[in-house]
Order: sequence, then C-alpha cells, then structure tokens
Amino acid sequence: MNFDLTEEQLAVQEAAREFARTELLPGVIERDDKQQFPAEQVKKMGELGFMGMMVDPKYHGGGMDTVSYVLAMEEMSKIDASASVAMSVNNSLVCWGLEKYGSEEQKEKYLKKLATGEIIGAFCLSEPEAGSDATSQRTTAEDKGDHYLLNGTKNWITNGNSASIYLVMAQTDVEKRHHGINALIVEKEMEGFTVGKKEDKLGIRGSDTHSLMFTDVRVPKANRIGEEGFGFKFAMSTLNGGRIGIASQALGIASGAYELALQYSKERKAFGVEISKHQAIQFKLADMATQVDAARLLCLKAAYEKDQGKNFAQTSAMAKLYASQVAMDVTIEAVQIHGGYGYVKEYHVERLMRDAKITQIYEGTSEIQKIVISRELLK
Ligand code: CAA
Repeated sequence: MNFDLTEEQLAVQEAAREFARTELLPGVIERDDKQQFPAEQVKKMGELGFMGMMVDPKYHGGGMDTVSYVLAMEEMSKIDASASVAMSVNNSLVCWGLEKYGSEEQKEKYLKKLATGEIIGAFCLSEPEAGSDATSQRTTAEDKGDHYLLNGTKNWITNGNSASIYLVMAQTDVEKRHHGINALIVEKEMEGFTVGKKEDKLGIRGSDTHSLMFTDVRVPKANRIGEEGFGFKFAMSTLNGGRIGIASQALGIASGAYELALQYSKERKAFGVEISKHQAIQFKLADMATQVDAARLLCLKAAYEKDQGKNFAQTSAMAKLYASQVAMDVTIEAVQIHGGYGYVKEYHVERLMRDAKITQIYEGTSEIQKIVISRELLK
C-alpha cells in the first residue's frame, strides 16, 4: 500500500491551494452575505482546468485521476464551499455522466464546452416530492416520436440559474417504474423552460440553488442519454461518483476549519498562555486532526477504487457519510475554540459550520448513504 502522492497529484493540490487562497478567499464573506454566485471565480476555475478535471483531453478535459480531483476539491472547499459545489456538480455529475454514458455526438456538442468551463451544467433529479425517494419521479417525458415532451418541476438544483446544460431525469413509462425513467439533456434556451427563484439558504449561500419548471419542453430524442429507460440507472451510477465530490467538499470544510482553529489556538492567549497550551484545547485539536485524516483516507480510497475501475459505490457512500459527519463535528469545535470570535463572520469558521450541514443532505442524506452501504454489504 502506497500513501504517497505522485508529483502530478502534488502539483494539482498546490495549484488548487494557491487558487483558493488568491482567487476564492477575497470576497468569500461578502458573497456568502449577499448570496452571490462566484461566477468570475468559477470561470477562472474553468480556465485553469478545474471544471473538467477527469475528462479525456480529446474532449478538452484535464485527463486527471479521481485522486487529483479529491485533492483539488478539498483545497477549494477549505475556502469557498459555494464555488466548490459548482465544481463538484460539473465535474462528477455532469461531465463524468456525459463522458461515461453519452453519445459521441453529445460529447462533441456539450462535453467539450463543459470540460473547459466555457459553460457549466446541472444535474436534475430532486423534485418537490421526490428527494430521497428518487424512483418516484413526477416529471414526465412523453414520447412523441422524434422528441419527448417534458413537463414538471425540479427542486434544489445546484447551478440552477448559471448552468447552460441540464441533465434532467423524467418518467416516460410509469408502469415500468424506475425502468421507465429517461435522462435528457435540456438546453437553457429551450422553449417552455423557466428558472424559479433562488433559495435563501443556511449555508453555501453563494451557490446557485433554484427550482426549475418545464412546460411542454420539446427535447429531441438525440438528447436522451443511453437507452430508453436508462435514466434511473444513469442517475444512481453518476451519483456514486458525485458522492466522492461531496465527501471531498465535506473533508475540505472540516480541514479548513481545523487549520483555522489550530492557527488561532497558537495566537490567542488566556490565563497567561496561548490557548494551545491548555489540555482542553489540545484534546480538541487531537480529535479534529484524527477525524480529518480518517475522512481524507476514505475519500482517497473511494477515488482510488474508481480510478482502478472497481465497484466504488460502497466506499463513496462511506466517504460521504463519514466526511459529512466530520465536517459537522469539526466545524462546531472550531467555532468553540474561537470562542466569541468564532461566532462572527470575520473569522470564517461560522460560515464553514453553516456550510457543513448541507453535506449531510445533498447527493443523498446520511440515511441514504447507510442504505447504499448496507445494500452493498448484504449483496
Ligand atoms: N449504484 C448503481 N445502481 C444503483 C444504486 C447505486 N448506488 N442504487 C440503486 N441502483 C439501482 C439498482 O440496482 C436498481 O436497478 P435494477 O432494478 O435494474 O436492479 C435500481 O437502481 C433501483 O434500485 P432500488 O430498488 O434499490 O431503488 P430504491 O427505490 O429502493 O432507492 C436509493 C434506492 C438508494 C434510496 C435511491 O433512490 C437514492 O440513491 N436516493 C437518493 C437520491 C439522491 O442522492 N438525490 C440527490 C439529488 S442530486 C443532488 O443533490 C445534486 C446537487 O445538486 C448537489
């Protein structure tokens, strides 16, 4: 077993760290406050190759491995989880899904632009009444011969307004239940497609979360991903990879909070000494560092399994389950170590604590991860 990173992986990690420090950190508090999507920053991420990291260079991607992606996601998420979720969805749900299951024509038309960040994408599965229970899709895609007629509403869609391309899951044949679901590529300009209001959220407030409405949208058959009825399998399989992205986001939120708390503990004095000299703080730091390291190992293991072509469904769910819990635990402790300063925006840890919560909810709640893990265990 080799835990060393390659020179290339270390270079990606360093580039992401530098980008996060110089491009994401300035203005992150204001963007969170104003719920402003980091459009300029995401565009630059694309120019540097962070939006299509794992895509084959023949489709203008970075051709990197999933381990590099985890490293970059951690660094971005330490600073700005609103930017990193845009990166995660584009990389692991949209680009990966299209590259793995899309037709050559779809890759030429959409993937090349998505991989460079010229445009970004969104993944549309959740509905007002179908979140965890994803087989109960109410959005319909009626078969009209050469096209589908799309009707329905999607909720909680990341990159909802900023995206140009939407991968939409919809039911074509209710009788067939999840085998009757199709995944369709919808363009923002298609007639009948409207973007609802932006959600006012607890955390990742800069992230662009919207509901989407489809009214008689004509989607050409050529925009269906995979065979008729493959949509649910497409969503599940793509989410397995997406969970590595969100696990890495949770990891970054946790390690960012831990690093801030460590630094603060060496500067802040109480009872005549730096607070890091008090055992109460030392024990907290020891627990936080241990949890962060364990979460990182799970994320890297899931990435490694994916890169090796193994079944990574169980490990990616474990990584997400564990890293998201660590993100909650560690950010709460980071606020505690900062005392009153931790409760104000200037010190960043309160934002990280708010951002942490969503990692236990999106791309499958913690309870869903346990279902995925236990089903794999009991197979
Ligand atoms: N990988 C591959 N295939 C899977 C799978 C997985 N992890 N989980 C299920 N499947 C397949 C099954 O093999 C089955 O296929 P067959 O019928 O051909 O055998 C099919 O999917 C249906 O599976 P189940 O009978 O197990 O379905 P279920 O109704 O019991 O639900 C579930 C399974 C795991 C709970 C699933 O509904 C689920 O994952 N729900 C959560 C959905 C989710 O993560 N939503 C997040 C939205 S995306 C998002 O948040 C993006 C964003 O913007 C940040």
